[in-house]
Amino acid sequence: MRKFIVGNWKMNGVSRDLDEITAISDLAQLYPSVDSAVCLPATLITRAVTAVGAFPIGGQDCHMQRAGAHTGCISADMLSDAGAVLTIVGHSERRAAQREKDSDVCAKAEAAKSAGLKAIVCVGETLDEREAGKALEVVLGQVASSLPDASAGTWLSVAYEPVWAIGTGRVAEPADVADMHAAIRAALVTRFGAEGEKIRILYGGSMNGDNAAQLLAVPNVDGGLIGGASLTATKFQPILAAAQASGE
Ligand code: 13P
Repeated sequence: MRKFIVGNWKMNGVSRDLDEITAISDLAQLYPSVDSAVCLPATLITRAVTAVGAFPIGGQDCHMQRAGAHTGCISADMLSDAGAVLTIVGHSERRAAQREKDSDVCAKAEAAKSAGLKAIVCVGETLDEREAGKALEVVLGQVASSLPDASAGTWLSVAYEPVWAIGTGRVAEPADVADMHAAIRAALVTRFGAEGEKIRILYGGSMNGDNAAQLLAVPNVDGGLIGGASLTATKFQPILAAAQASGE
């Protein structure tokens, strides 16, 4: 399976950062056996798409409905119209701050698919849940309820992002990542059959140039969703290199 390395710029990026996005897209061409993309603030998408040409640009969320009275929200059709080809849905920061439930995330993933976008559905346990021994139960529950029945196919990826590893510099142990990704894979195969083997499972949470090779070597880790280390081409480069070295 080709590795999928996706930057999540979160609420970072204004006009002056377009040069950095161009640098990242130029860099990605040096790693042709890796699929890569950057998910940007909506305000930058169209200009970034114009600047980078074929390099995939994504959004970070979408509304579950196509249009309507939802002040401040952006639909999947709008992301597509802006030039995005993928979107993240259900990031833990949105599950927490915007109180998004699994059913919301599932509807957003469906909306993304209907709009022709690829979707990355995020799951992950909090530190309290892990310390209570509930990490597997929580994450498998999120997987079961956040993925639409039409998940089979390469339009979908799942990102396992332990909440306590995001932006903290604290990376999950490879053995724990292996257990979680194996459990997610088993759940995908149980539900979607052979198609469940094709859904890429990304790891996210303080992935960087120092730890990417180790994490990407873990079975069933098919890529990474990267926050801080995706903000510059310099930091993103070693992750792409690690993916190229570990991929097919
Ligand atoms: P960091 O790589 O900054 O920990 O962020 C991970 C993340 O939340 C990506 O979606």
